Amino acid sequence: MRSNIESVWLFALASKCRAFSQESFAFSVFIIFLAWLVMTLFYWAHPGGPAWGKFSFLNPSFLSAVNKRIPGPRGLPVIGSMNLMASSLAHHRIAAAAEACKAKRLMAFSLGHTRVLVTCNPDVAREMLNSSVFADRPVKESAYSLMFNRAIGFAPYGVYWRTLRRIAAMHLFCPKQIKGAEDQRREIASEMVSLYAQHDRSFSVRQVLKRASLNNMMASIFGRKYKLNSTNNEVEQLQALVDEGLDPQQWAHPLEFIPDRFVSKEGEVEFSVLGSDLRLAPFGSGRRTCPGKKMGLTTVSFWVATLVHEFEWLPSDQNTIDLSEVLRLSCEMLNPLTVKVRPRLR
Ligand code: HEM
Repeated sequence: MRSNIESVWLFALASKCRAFSQESFAFSVFIIFLAWLVMTLFYWAHPGGPAWGKFSFLNPSFLSAVNKRIPGPRGLPVIGSMNLMASSLAHHRIAAAAEACKAKRLMAFSLGHTRVLVTCNPDVAREMLNSSVFADRPVKESAYSLMFNRAIGFAPYGVYWRTLRRIAAMHLFCPKQIKGAEDQRREIASEMVSLYAQHDRSFSVRQVLKRASLNNMMASIFGRKYKLNSTNNEVEQLQALVDEGLDPQQWAHPLEFIPDRFVSKEGEVEFSVLGSDLRLAPFGSGRRTCPGKKMGLTTVSFWVATLVHEFEWLPSDQNTIDLSEVLRLSCEMLNPLTVKVRPRLR
């Protein structure tokens, strides 16, 4: 606000000054506009678009490394490649852009002033995720306030973040805590089983699973327990709060649904999803890797095992399985899975 008032004074003063006739004022504005236009086009001409151009210009050492320029789409002047993200299939658009720019290991693009790097190469991903240069998670003010300015996930890489990680590792996700949450996992699993058992026709599995994970989280963190099938205002509000691009060089037929690809064959070393094998890293890797990964994996494995143990899972009468995807916080089925279950006879 202050600088606005200052600039108004400046213009008022300039208009009183004889040297600033209307023509010369218009000419100065034109020159400033022209300079802005030239710089904008100059930044935009850089591979990866305006944010990378500006960065190269302001960091001459980067600019001199001409041969090391990372390929990537320029997008539009000023805004860069916003269009890549404005889609529920952003990961496909990004993959297509990489193909078009012949970006094999690494691609650069701009989202406004923010520089973005994408890789689908496990070695490059490991190098990036383990480097302190990439240990910050750039966050806009809105996301930061949404997380009460305290969240570990958006905390800058520094003492506060490190302290939270240490506390979480010692008190929330240590083996004793994971074991201690066993009864809670079992209780929620049997609630799920009795809910699913009530269906004698096709139904969607997603709602119950979502509610189960939310309840599990609330019980672990806040010690609050909700019934899985009860709906009240508080539960609905909570629900509102929470709501596989593969590299063809690493995986054959990357866009086909072949879950067996992740199961190690006889004689092969077991495939780790905990972050050491970057071909598949659902929990991330390196400094910012998910601190709750063991807890998450234990819970998911136990619930899946229980549900498969209790029921035979059969295709729904009405719908075939539709593998269309949508990118939200993670990649989800566009049309949630509907199935029929038959309790196993024992
Ligand atoms: C199957 C379940 C889970 C999956 C797939 C998952 C996945 C992830 C991923 C991909 C990240 C981001 C890593 C990065 O930014 O590089 C992350 C971070 C995080 N996750 Fe998880 N997560 C799961 C369960 C949990 C659970 C149960 C908790 C806690 C109760 C949790 C707490 C966190 C926190 C606090 C971070 C931020 C870490 C940091 O910035 O230092 N996650 N998770």
